[in-house]
Amino acid sequence: MDSIIFTVGMTLLWGIAGITAVGLPYCPTNRSLKARKTFLLWTGGAALLLSALWYTAIVGRLVTSGWLFVEGTVKALIPLTLLPQLYLASTILPKLKSLRESGGEPPTQTALRTVARPSVALSFLAAALASGISAFGTVFAQPVLPGPVEIVRRFMLVALLLIVPAIWARRRYLRIIRGEQLQRGFAARLLKFAFASMLSFAVAIAILVFNVLVGVNASKLPEASDMMNHDRIDEGGGTATRMSGGSPNHHQHHSNHPAGTVEVAALTGTISDPADVTFELVAQRKKITLASGAVVDAWTYNGEIAPELRVKHGDMVEVKLINQDIDSGVTIHWHGYNVPNAMDGVPGMTQNIVKPGQSFTYKFRADQEGTYWFHSHQQAAEQVVKGLFGALIVEPKQDAEAFDEQFTVINHRWTTDQGYKHAFGNQDAVQWKQVKPGQKVKLRLINTHNLSQKYLLQGTDFRIESIDGMRIRNPQPLSDQTALRLGSGGRYDVTFTMPNHPVYFKLGDYNNDSNPGIVFYADTFPEKPVFRAESALFDPSDYGRPVANEVTAAKTFDREFRLILGNEMGFYNGKFHFLWTINGEVYPRVPTLVVQEGDTVKTTFVNKSLAEHPMHLHGHHMTVLKKNGGKVKTPWVTDTLNVLPGESYEVAFVADNPGMWMDHCHNLGHAATGMILHLMYDNVRSSYEAGARSGNLPD
Ligand code: C2O
Ligand code: CU
Repeated sequence: MDSIIFTVGMTLLWGIAGITAVGLPYCPTNRSLKARKTFLLWTGGAALLLSALWYTAIVGRLVTSGWLFVEGTVKALIPLTLLPQLYLASTILPKLKSLRESGGEPPTQTALRTVARPSVALSFLAAALASGISAFGTVFAQPVLPGPVEIVRRFMLVALLLIVPAIWARRRYLRIIRGEQLQRGFAARLLKFAFASMLSFAVAIAILVFNVLVGVNASKLPEASDMMNHDRIDEGGGTATRMSGGSPNHHQHHSNHPAGTVEVAALTGTISDPADVTFELVAQRKKITLASGAVVDAWTYNGEIAPELRVKHGDMVEVKLINQDIDSGVTIHWHGYNVPNAMDGVPGMTQNIVKPGQSFTYKFRADQEGTYWFHSHQQAAEQVVKGLFGALIVEPKQDAEAFDEQFTVINHRWTTDQGYKHAFGNQDAVQWKQVKPGQKVKLRLINTHNLSQKYLLQGTDFRIESIDGMRIRNPQPLSDQTALRLGSGGRYDVTFTMPNHPVYFKLGDYNNDSNPGIVFYADTFPEKPVFRAESALFDPSDYGRPVANEVTAAKTFDREFRLILGNEMGFYNGKFHFLWTINGEVYPRVPTLVVQEGDTVKTTFVNKSLAEHPMHLHGHHMTVLKKNGGKVKTPWVTDTLNVLPGESYEVAFVADNPGMWMDHCHNLGHAATGMILHLMYDNVRSSYEAGARSGNLPD
């Protein structure tokens, strides 16, 4: 924020100073020359002060957030602004200061020569342009990992824009040297000025048009691709993989496919085992009426809002997906469930879309107990929002769960005939549930909305028993003044013991009455619930006993990836968008992460952008090791990690599920404009194609 103010301020001040400097040789008297000179020294001084403040702010950010947050600015913007400003401070401003002329006579030839030197006007203009580019960059296109080309490009831009002024300033200077009079007439000067600005403007427009044309074309998605970025693979600094001509797996003892390669379509797991439980899900359009009477033109599985599949831990699950009438085709992705790759439901990567009249059967063993969900992965930004999702609940093998009542609370924001409505299932208002005192209640919270959501549970202490389906060891009780926040796609299992007074649960702020809520009551039917503002926010990085696994114990990793989340104005598939980028790029230009089976992999997320990004990796659970550079007290396991602006996280996983996996922002609107990349095992070959030709559109 400060950086925006500083850079915009610098641009304005240097811009004003630049125009003033251009006018210096036209001063009719020494007195007016002196007045302008004084003005210039003050504006220049103020601009230098602002830039010093900006540099200090960057150092501050470096100290508080780390190098990765400032690297782009330091490499691409600081040299650009520093160069003209240093020149001004060391040479031009002192020279102006040393002018001693005063009085009502016309300026001397020496004074005129000093102020008309092209370097005077040009250095002010260069400082203004460099500041302008920096301000634009700070707001719209933060440089992320600038290479030499990107750094030089900005200098070139300043140079190009200065060509016209430079020619003009030189011609004027020569005239002064030859002793010719400059036209002092206002009209004549205005004409010249207009002409020169038009020329400069033409140069600027030409550069802009060129960039737009290149951007539009470069951003067009291929008609057909295997979704791999073959030109840009990232091996995370590890040993060369087969993708870059390296040798096969070095962890041969871990691998089922030590020598050869395997196709995605063949990665079906234990599909020939008999099914223990079977379901049918029919994708269909359906008008759904919410509790309030608001009507949703929904796209559903089985004509329901959030149907629930409930199985037992260890079951072989078979789900037949039939598409009745969703024209763009559908799939099912098992969010957070580490199924074999061919069951992952990503069109163009792990299967073809299921078109109307077609079906596809998913089969996998339920070997993770807990709360999960599923959704279509075809054009998910549209299909999930419209309702193509449901809950997947995997109960423990024995009925040993220590609770008496359980509720799946799956929240979504619906587009209805009465506007947006948040709801738990189809309940968009307050519901009442009677529970006997002393009973243990479990709420399975699932956030299917694109943005993170806050929840309040008041009237009792409670515990978070699981995060993203993974059990917390020794979860301690939390006071009812603790709010919970779930990123998009995330889940919490919350438990409490019913007291002999009501317990209130709701989505969102305590004073937001339009959000859904649940009143749990014991005997007497209570009045309308009353909520208080929370005083704390649940923090998974300091809760229960720390997770201990292969990656928490690891001292080094086989591969380390760095994913910097940024934003910029640009093009996606030929259209202008506000883009959410990964390492400065959007799909398909984001490098593919390549691993070998058995690798331990560390990934660092750095959010330099203006929004939160719930980062979701398919097929693996990530263990969170560090937050903002420091070790977390309690590493925890997640499949969807909400990274807030200004935050960084280090997560790690073991590459133990071969295939091609998506890794993307679960704000599905962001994913739909390219905030997507892939994790690729080097012994895996693709089986499908994505793009307009096949209709497989997996965002
Ligand atoms: Cu829940 Cu790739 O998504
Ligand atoms: Cu995002």
